[in-house]
Amino acid sequence: MRSTNAPEALAALRARLALPVVVAPMFLVSGPELVLAACRSGVIGAFPAPNARTLEILDQWMGRISRELGSVAPGGTSPAPWAQNLVAHSSYERLDGELELVDRYRPPLVITALGSPRAALEVVHGYGGIVIADVNSVQHARKAAAAGVDGLALVCAGAGGHTGRMSPFAFVAEVREFFDGLIIVAGGIGNGRGIHAAEQLGADLVSMGTRFIVAEESLAVAEYKRMVVAADCEDLVLTSAFSGADAYYLRQSIERAGYDPASLTPKPGMDLTGAQAKIRAWKDVWSAGQGVGQVSAIEPLALIVARLRREYEAARAA
Ligand SMILES: Cc1cc2nc3c(=O)[nH]c(=O)nc-3n(C[C@H](O)[C@H](O)[C@H](O)COP(=O)(O)O)c2cc1C
Repeated sequence: MRSTNAPEALAALRARLALPVVVAPMFLVSGPELVLAACRSGVIGAFPAPNARTLEILDQWMGRISRELGSVAPGGTSPAPWAQNLVAHSSYERLDGELELVDRYRPPLVITALGSPRAALEVVHGYGGIVIADVNSVQHARKAAAAGVDGLALVCAGAGGHTGRMSPFAFVAEVREFFDGLIIVAGGIGNGRGIHAAEQLGADLVSMGTRFIVAEESLAVAEYKRMVVAADCEDLVLTSAFSGADAYYLRQSIERAGYDPASLTPKPGMDLTGAQAKIRAWKDVWSAGQGVGQVSAIEPLALIVARLRREYEAARAA
């Protein structure tokens, strides 16, 4: 299946990046500072639209990002493109208003999650942008490819936030059989060797969330960042109790919020009606993926990217 922008636009996209990395959109973690720092470091920065509490705030954030990334100082290098992450779930009420802002500010990439990318496709292809759908199964990948997306972000087992269940080995191989557009692998990638390994599997880019929660520019509170630094895989609890879909959470944050990690009640199905009012669950109970053990310090995003780049180049040279 051929996507509309493949392959020239996708090759041009890769050429603009210092590393084949998306700093993944993260609920309550990614804001304009993280996006700007990512793009200025040569990797794609993204934030979920619901992180802006109101459409007015979203308008300000998107306006600021497009303005600041659009003005390159004479002699300066062009920043990497940015991505707007949209919740496309049928119960999410703000999508129409968010799509109007997408049409106004024209983020070069739009990443849809939790639902059909169709509404976004019409708007984003209208101005020549790239649409990527987050998917966590081959069935969803087929549907999104048939809808005409330019790229698929394969959310694999071990991802932070809502995790997938598939191994990237199997997932990339199956999707490559019917999709020749951009493939992004997400889940559990914590270092430059992992980025290179994903390329070996046939992916074009990787999406890394957990590795960047601790960036100084992220919106995560200091205690969350310290918990991520201290944690490893053994500290993760997989449950649907908080959002209605499987996600990994830091055990210590569950206990701190007053729950017993051993007796959580699974919640069947997601409902994002009034999502802005339901923020507390994610605010108090903190998610991280299986790459959490690779995170050892709170530091500026540029330093994290510089280290990933050294690790990636060393892996390639080896
Ligand atoms: C705290 C947290 C919040 C997340 N929130 C979102 C979100 O709002 N929208 C989304 O599409 N993905 C979200 N994700 C998933 C990321 O975009 C990405 O797929 C994931 O972080 C990749 O796995 P990794 O964390 O193991 O690197 C979230 C991930 C984390 C860790």
